[in-house]
Amino acid sequence: MDLKFEKDKKRVVFSLGGSLVVPDGVNVPYLRQFRDFIFEFVNQGWRFVLVVGGGSQARKYIQAAKEIIGDSITHDDMDWLGIHATRFNAHLIRTIFRSIAQPVIITNPEKDYLDTTKSVIVSGGWKPGWSTDYVAVKIANRLKAETMINLSDIKYVYSADPKKDPQAKPVKDMLWMDFVKLVGDRWIPGMNVPFDPIASKQAMETNLDVYVTEGSNLKNIKRILKGEDYIGTLLHN
Ligand code: UTP
Repeated sequence: MDLKFEKDKKRVVFSLGGSLVVPDGVNVPYLRQFRDFIFEFVNQGWRFVLVVGGGSQARKYIQAAKEIIGDSITHDDMDWLGIHATRFNAHLIRTIFRSIAQPVIITNPEKDYLDTTKSVIVSGGWKPGWSTDYVAVKIANRLKAETMINLSDIKYVYSADPKKDPQAKPVKDMLWMDFVKLVGDRWIPGMNVPFDPIASKQAMETNLDVYVTEGSNLKNIKRILKGEDYIGTLLHN
């Protein structure tokens, strides 16, 4: 049985993929269940950091800008639209946890004050060239967490890209070394990988374990927190 979270004093950092919060419009039924889930654990003494992604909001705004000004849009400007989408979503999350959350969302994971007396700390994106996965790793490092959980729309990391390789198999346990070989070491805006390659490198270097699992399956996430058998992949050194 895996009791890492007990050792971490019941603190969990979630990288909450934007596709869960805003798949198209805001996913109100999911956020309602997610809120109940967090409160259930907070009532048992757990504390959470929720780092929120941009989701369709980011993509729609980038697309709109491109339609209007075409190729003259810069990478930086696309990233800033993405970052503001993450912050808008983060503010929504902080609002639904108003009574238990640090009131101000984190926008700089290196410098901003983290009020660890609060049950919930919420962060959005930081600066161009990064991702919310990376921000989550940075905050986990600052809190000296040994483990974090990446919530997205995939159940497992596969042994190869399942879209390209029909032999690809789900893997329950993977070394960072092998994962980095699989996803490369570059972050390309809009790339679709189970966990951001740059964030992976940072996690590998700081010895952080990351669970990759489906964010919509809250029962399964409960099993991870309780150290029970779960669906998902554990990335570690
Ligand atoms: P993310 O890609 O991190 O959010 O941020 P997400 O919605 O969880 O991503 P998916 O679900 O994996 O697609 C959205 C965009 O915001 C910019 C990047 O362009 C990123 O693709 N961003 C985010 C930054 O430039 N810096 C940050 O610190 C965070």
